[in-house]
Amino acid sequence: MQYFKNKVVWITGASSGIGEALALALSAEGALLILSSRRIDELERVKRACINQGNIKIVTLDLLDTPSLLNKTSEAITAFGHIDIMVHNGGISQRSYVAETSMAVQRKVMEIDYFSYVELTNHLLPHFIQRKSGHFVVISSVMGKIGTPMRSAYAAAKHALHGFFDCLRAEVFDKNIQVTIITPGYIRTNVALNAVKGDGSRNAVTGKDIENGFPVDKAAAQILKAIAAGKFEAFVGRNGKEKLALIVNRFAPNLLHKMARKQIPR
Ligand SMILES: NC(=O)c1ccc[n+]([C@@H]2O[C@H](COP(=O)([O-])OP(=O)(O)OC[C@H]3O[C@@H](n4cnc5c(N)ncnc54)[C@H](OP(=O)(O)O)[C@@H]3O)[C@@H](O)[C@H]2O)c1
Repeated sequence: MQYFKNKVVWITGASSGIGEALALALSAEGALLILSSRRIDELERVKRACINQGNIKIVTLDLLDTPSLLNKTSEAITAFGHIDIMVHNGGISQRSYVAETSMAVQRKVMEIDYFSYVELTNHLLPHFIQRKSGHFVVISSVMGKIGTPMRSAYAAAKHALHGFFDCLRAEVFDKNIQVTIITPGYIRTNVALNAVKGDGSRNAVTGKDIENGFPVDKAAAQILKAIAAGKFEAFVGRNGKEKLALIVNRFAPNLLHKMARKQIPR
């Protein structure tokens, strides 16, 4: 895909899963990459697996460390002098009923999965406006469109992303700035292992849905296609129950509610 050749792409959550797969796919397409997350050793591992390591820079960051994100954005911009595409991908999922979830966990998930995206966007937007060009890619989830048991904080944060970035898309459309929201179904990554439980501890279980999830390299390929096509929103994954849920929610929301009630949390 010629589209990504020499484009500068900043990816958060690049040390694992979807972010890692996007880094590998984009490096193969000739993109210049800025890889971000907390774990430098894992980012170095991903960098070594990429093609042409001279085209890869690392900017470590913690999405929870709000005051640091302005400087991190400047660091990312100076890495190659500009940024063409920002992929908001770093995040954390949740496995807990509302009644068992502390407010600290509700706020933590919102902070990582929603407010950090807003914060980084606010810092990067002036750069895109000045260049009269830019593309925000937002990795949301099917949970950004529906709600099922044990995902209250996660679904809330992902729904909020749609509200914020749909507004932004309308505001900056005439400034040649694009917004693509990706709603993945189950993708085989460490997302469930790393998910937070109601008391703040790590879920540490993968579960059948993610174990049998769509292969992450195929998900990355679908995401690149959606970005290059300038899609506003795109489902990524297999044509399974998650895609069905999106369709049912659109045309028969009461039926979706019944399906969601029966969803056995795993
Ligand atoms: N896998 C799925 O089925 C699925 C479905 C829908 C949506 N998604 C979304 O896809 C995105 C990527 O998830 P994944 O499936 O690839 O899971 P993953 O393998 O657990 O990767 C999560 C990434 O986020 C980074 N991260 C987590 N907390 C962070 C923090 N405080 N600061 C900076 N980086 C942080 C992690 O890096 P460090 O630990 O190095 O910081 C890691 O690179 C998430 O937004 C997730 O909600 C996934």
